[in-house]
Amino acid sequence: MKKEPLILGIESSCDETAAAVIRRRELLSDEIVSSAQLQARFGGVVPEIASRVHTDAIDEVVSRALCVAGVKKEELDAVAVTYGAGLLGALLVGLSFAKGFAYGLNIPLIGVNHIRGHLAAAYLEEKTLEPPFVTLLASGGHTAVLYTRSRSELEVLGGTLDDAAGEAFDKVARVLSLPYPGGPHVEALAREGRPVVPMPKMLKGAGGYDFSYSGLKTHIINYVHNKEQRGEEWSKADVAASFQSAALDILAEKTVQAALEKKVHTVTAGGGVIANGYLREKLSLLCGRAGLHLVLPEKKRCTDNAAMIAAEGLLRFEAGQFSPLTINAEASIPLR
Ligand code: KG4
Ligand code: ZN
Repeated sequence: MKKEPLILGIESSCDETAAAVIRRRELLSDEIVSSAQLQARFGGVVPEIASRVHTDAIDEVVSRALCVAGVKKEELDAVAVTYGAGLLGALLVGLSFAKGFAYGLNIPLIGVNHIRGHLAAAYLEEKTLEPPFVTLLASGGHTAVLYTRSRSELEVLGGTLDDAAGEAFDKVARVLSLPYPGGPHVEALAREGRPVVPMPKMLKGAGGYDFSYSGLKTHIINYVHNKEQRGEEWSKADVAASFQSAALDILAEKTVQAALEKKVHTVTAGGGVIANGYLREKLSLLCGRAGLHLVLPEKKRCTDNAAMIAAEGLLRFEAGQFSPLTINAEASIPLR
């Protein structure tokens, strides 16, 4: 095998069109065009708009990624691309483009599971990272605590029984009349408030490494409606701060608990919610106390990006796991 594989990563599963080039675990470029602001007008992602923006942007984003990296496309060793999970039309834009690229250059195509990409972001943060480690995954569609025993052995220790953490942030943001995507807005508002609004206990009660968000979400909806119906004063910032700590403390606690039980020394994290400053601080506090080494991807590599797809592509490349050109986009795929 060539010593330093050069991999182009492409991501288009939702509202970000992204391309990145890595040489081994060194990131050479990381380009992104987002339709999030456009989507914010509609209060969520409109699949047709996402597909159109991807179609308009993909060629330029990939060219820019190659140019910034100072790499000619003929030098690439493989193209890694998200094939699922995500919006089908959006995925097809990136996947079709990647297939054409791989076929034209006669290099391998590597279909990447988007969620595995989020997990792989940590490898870019710490170049020497190797399993075993425990990972907290928290995105808009998934929330789970995972144990990576070796590069090929991944165990799901637990996850949400209903809504994903990011989804809960987005729904609570809507109740608080904050724009899409809700997470960063709830975080900003929470900084101005105090966690004084009582939250339901049931969240902590969920067994093992599982957790539940629907009770918390319903509690907040009821709290806001009751206050408004009675014409009572209430603080949006306090609700945001109370929700944020209730939703995130449990994630950090269960992750550390899992790492101790599995006797690993390292904890990693990935997914959009890991960009949350409160959660990052909580994780580093609890990991520090437990003597665990924490690897947190940079904030911009927690939300959707192509560098993480290239990073997962590298793991697959090293394992010789390539995809046929007939691979299709899939709206939902299991983690493994
Ligand atoms: O990983 P991601 O970019 O896309 C998916 O694969 O789902 O995650 C997006 C989710 C959204 O629900 C968004 O509100 C949430 O991550 N998010 C945050 C923050 N930034 C993004 N949640 C809490 N705090 C943040 N700072
Ligand atoms: Zn994502």
